[in-house]
Amino acid sequence: MRLIYNNIYIVGFMGTGKTSVARALSDKCGYNFIDLDEAIVNIADMTIPEIFSKLGESEFRKLEKTVLLDVSAKKHMAVSCGGGIMLSAENIAVMKSSGIMIRLNASATTLYKRLDGCRNRPLLMSGASPQENINRLIAEREIYYSKADYTIITDDLSIDEVACEVIKIINGK
Ligand code: S3P
Repeated sequence: MRLIYNNIYIVGFMGTGKTSVARALSDKCGYNFIDLDEAIVNIADMTIPEIFSKLGESEFRKLEKTVLLDVSAKKHMAVSCGGGIMLSAENIAVMKSSGIMIRLNASATTLYKRLDGCRNRPLLMSGASPQENINRLIAEREIYYSKADYTIITDDLSIDEVACEVIKIINGK
């Protein structure tokens, strides 16, 4: 397969399947998989909840920006991005200029199910119930996620089917 795009950035809310889809993409075509959260954890030598509690969200966002910039200089990467990557206009500009942004989306009901019992996403654990946090974040973030180049609704699709949809998009079909 001809690799038309430089990098493919898989973006969208927590629990939409970004990591599994980016990994499936790299299995199906010649892109190299990377998970930005994993890269952050390696650099900080802490888990995501530890980074949030010890350093704060703003430090996490700085690390996120650094790893994104690093990846944007590479070629043919299938990048699983953290759910907050699009909150920064600078991050969006970096992704636009170095590849294509494909957003995965799912209904709140699907997200409640997929994120139920999740312990490693600090933004869902703070204050209100996970469901209330999900509702609030979805409402706050739609304006940012809508800046993606394409959106795939994943509620009724398997990981493999979503990866095939991504491949259709990057092949222009
Ligand atoms: C976040 C999403 C998480 C992780 C961090 C913050 C967010 O990644 O980057 O907990 O702001 O939505 P996933 O979307 O992979 O869960």
